[in-house]
Amino acid sequence: MTLTTTTVSSTKGLFGSDLISPQVAASLPEGYTIRALEKGDYGRGFLDCLRVLTTVGDITEEQWSDRYDWMNTQGKGGYFLLVITNEVGRVVGTGALIVERKFIHNLGSVGHIEDIAVAKDQQGKKLGLKIIQALDFIAEKTGCYKSILDCSEANEGFYVKCGFKRAGLEMAHYY
Ligand code: ACO
Repeated sequence: MTLTTTTVSSTKGLFGSDLISPQVAASLPEGYTIRALEKGDYGRGFLDCLRVLTTVGDITEEQWSDRYDWMNTQGKGGYFLLVITNEVGRVVGTGALIVERKFIHNLGSVGHIEDIAVAKDQQGKKLGLKIIQALDFIAEKTGCYKSILDCSEANEGFYVKCGFKRAGLEMAHYY
């Protein structure tokens, strides 16, 4: 078989632990862990954690597995989804960085921060801030020149605390 430019990750999760900020990992509450999304997170409450953000739908384990594999075989490291787990291994926070590779800015890359969610009973403990710091670390390590995100007015203060500032205007077409 000929190897193509697509490389299947041999790590347990979507990406290697070298992309997890040691500072963020060391700053978590006792027993909490930050790491790449793993296939087993379906059974550890990943989708429930996302439900604090928006509608998720009834996703079967097979559907989850298909989507996970799709993200994991992109080969170029485009999808960086991470989770924070608590002392008993439940997912209590998550966030995603999608690295978009461009022609402009000398083949520059832009990080898109998406789907930040902290379980209701865990909010206010700086876990959201740590998720953003961890995604910033990945963005820098993967060579992004900036990271951008869309959020509601209600969340602007959170992102300002995380070091972001208003830039531009979001527009959308829904299909
Ligand atoms: N408005 C203003 N300030 C805020 C807000 C807010 N909505 N939320 C948190 N902060 C402040 C905190 O008070 C704290 O300030 P401090 O350092 O002065 O004490 C700082 O921001 C960090 O807060 P955290 O404790 O890290 O926030 P938390 O862990 O609760 O996570 C989050 C914040 C992710 C918004 C969480 O409340 C959540 O999951 N909400 C529901 C889902 C959601 O709206 N996600 C974001 C969607 S946008 C996107 O995904 C790109």
